[in-house]
Amino acid sequence: MSSTLSGKRILLIIGGGIAAYKTLDLIRRLRERGAAVRPVMTQAAQQFITPLAVGALAADHVFTDLFDRQDEQDVGHIRLSREADLVVVAPATADLMAKLANGLASDLASAVLLATDKPVLIAPAMNPKMWSHPATRRNRETLARDGVAFVGPARGEMAESGEAGEGRMAEPLEIVAAIEALLEPAERPLAGRRIIVTSGPTHEPIDPVRYIANRSSGKQGHAIAAALARLGADVQLVSGPVTIPDPAGVSTTHVESARQMREAVEGLLPADAAIFVAAVADWRTADAAGEKIKKVAGEGPPALQMVENPDILAGIGHHARRPFLVVGFAAETQDVLKNAKAKLDRKGADLIVANDVSHDSGIGPGGVMGGDRNRVRIVSKTGAEEWPELTKDEVAERLAALIAGRLQAIET
Ligand SMILES: Cc1cc2nc3c(=O)[nH]c(=O)nc-3n(C[C@H](O)[C@H](O)[C@H](O)COP(=O)(O)O)c2cc1C
Repeated sequence: MSSTLSGKRILLIIGGGIAAYKTLDLIRRLRERGAAVRPVMTQAAQQFITPLAVGALAADHVFTDLFDRQDEQDVGHIRLSREADLVVVAPATADLMAKLANGLASDLASAVLLATDKPVLIAPAMNPKMWSHPATRRNRETLARDGVAFVGPARGEMAESGEAGEGRMAEPLEIVAAIEALLEPAERPLAGRRIIVTSGPTHEPIDPVRYIANRSSGKQGHAIAAALARLGADVQLVSGPVTIPDPAGVSTTHVESARQMREAVEGLLPADAAIFVAAVADWRTADAAGEKIKKVAGEGPPALQMVENPDILAGIGHHARRPFLVVGFAAETQDVLKNAKAKLDRKGADLIVANDVSHDSGIGPGGVMGGDRNRVRIVSKTGAEEWPELTKDEVAERLAALIAGRLQAIET
């Protein structure tokens, strides 16, 4: 099978998590695509899977000990870290992430990670509470800023019974795709650029169990984040609640409400560009109830008092630390172009990507919201350009190329 991975050398660091069993399959998948896999296992990893199984699948020696005289004489941890095209950590434990974020080198895995001059991709896997702990969040942000690429984790059932949430390791084939994306000899016109992307809907609470939402799936925003990352950008994605996985090679912050989204976006400034794809709720309830609102016989439905949410796009469009390029999305059901032009001025945006989300937009089953296709018009101060109906991935590719061109033009 000819593949981007053919002849590539992957240094695979296996951490001590339950997901280590999936790494055995990952080794198989990498090898069948022609990659050479050199495994490093932490002491903890050896509690979950054996060096024998890892070595047999990788067809290579398994490195486990920083102070192994023979290994150190034969290869040495510095050479080990350099003689690879890419370093992959799967599963990346909370512990390994903390070590790398803080520059610790107390075992072979962490020493290799610190000594390497190659790109590093990590596939975190841990209990959802560990993943959402402020310490892990801080480490994750530090690692993303240091240029470490992430794949996953996904949301779902944990191997431990009764636990569900975000923290499940990405599936082996997703990790393979992320590795291929990192190794592809692609043009990287956005290298060194920091770009914020928002995606998905927001959820505005009515009470602890009910919320106001919209039909945005996050597919378009996530595709744009991934396309920008493929062009080399350091992409900071702020995602509302969605059921699709985090894009590979992108640092994702998860939020629920419009106010949380604004706070997350402002916390990510400064940036070269910001692309606001999320369908942010215009309104929220004035006072979300602290307890579930009870249905009382004879009292009828409660009256919901609504207040306006912050306008995140306009806030950043007029911000003191405004990115060079601000792009908004306008989902309209009528007078698409007229409304997009008005939005451009009002919000302080450079470009508005206008899409018609009405039922008669002509886009097949599911429509634009939640569907896989989109037809957009790019509205700028100098006019409007209409793109044909495309898949959301194709819209993302084109838009990423347009953004790269615009940023280059601003610089020169
Ligand atoms: C049954 C069991 C499952 C574990 N699963 C995970 C996990 O999925 N992710 C994680 O970060 N730590 C997990 N741990 C804790 C790590 O094994 C522990 O933090 C260890 O020190 C990690 O070492 P390492 O980072 O050197 O591999 C688990 C521990 C046990 C006993």
